[in-house]
Amino acid sequence: MEALLSEENFYKMTDYIYRKAGIYLELDKHFDKLSKYIETRCKAIGADSFRKYFYTLRFDDKDGAEFQALMNGMTVNETYFYREKEQFEVLVERILPELHEIKPKGQALRILSAPSSTGEEPYSMILHILEEARIVEERDIEIVGIDIDSTVIEKAKLGKYSDRSVHAIPPKVLAKYFKKRTLGYDLIDDLIGTVDFKVSNVFDRGDMRKLGKFDVIFSRNMLIYFDDASRKEVAMTFYDMLNPNGYVLLGHAEYMSRITSVFKAKKIDSTLIYQK
Ligand SMILES: C[S@@+](CC[C@H](N)C(=O)[O-])C[C@H]1O[C@@H](n2cnc3c(N)ncnc32)[C@H](O)[C@@H]1O
Repeated sequence: MEALLSEENFYKMTDYIYRKAGIYLELDKHFDKLSKYIETRCKAIGADSFRKYFYTLRFDDKDGAEFQALMNGMTVNETYFYREKEQFEVLVERILPELHEIKPKGQALRILSAPSSTGEEPYSMILHILEEARIVEERDIEIVGIDIDSTVIEKAKLGKYSDRSVHAIPPKVLAKYFKKRTLGYDLIDDLIGTVDFKVSNVFDRGDMRKLGKFDVIFSRNMLIYFDDASRKEVAMTFYDMLNPNGYVLLGHAEYMSRITSVFKAKKIDSTLIYQK
């Protein structure tokens, strides 16, 4: 059997991944991971060369399962509850009250977590809203979580988390909204289903259009895996998806000023938020 992944094939694959999902893989950092992944997939589908695997991926993947397997295998899903928690505080203390004042009565405030990974980010919003946001008495709030990786979306729907994942939640909040298991924690039944989770690719315009308009978009720790052109494309997609005066929040290593100038940046304490 020929060597499955040569340097030339690495570039063919990474070019394909980049065009479909915006994810930018580098030879020195990602060769081994991609090489192992392709070996596993070749065994699974009975392909004996990179050429056969790559052909299947591009031309014989009618239900999209091979592309989905590739995304599930190559994405980095690291996340935990209350990660960069100041942003959740700014959400409930500043952004939601402000948008509540200006949005017509009777319309829900809609928040998108893109990407949500296994759900810790959108559920952290829910916990902050339940604990601190007074406006829930007067206003419906809808939260949608999306990710390109179908395995993380399936996990998010189950609401089962490891000790590590919940380590930053204050003990009182943990005791109130989770059930302790022998290994890890389960979200209480009342919270299961409070986030609408979907498999979606931020580069797929059809996927994104179907989600509708939002008042707030959290997009943390995904743009770091993209290059400048892809970051700009995603930022403009978010701009189109936001209602007037809506906000985007990025991860702490991501800056909108380096991507586009269409948003107004505001600093609240140490947190940067970007308004349409
Ligand atoms: C490191 S996690 C970030 C999760 C969470 N936002 C946080 O900050 O903790 C990055 C996620 O981005 C997702 N992702 C990568 N490319 C994507 C794309 N094109 N569309 C949607 N999600 C994508 C990955 O599957 C992964 O779960």
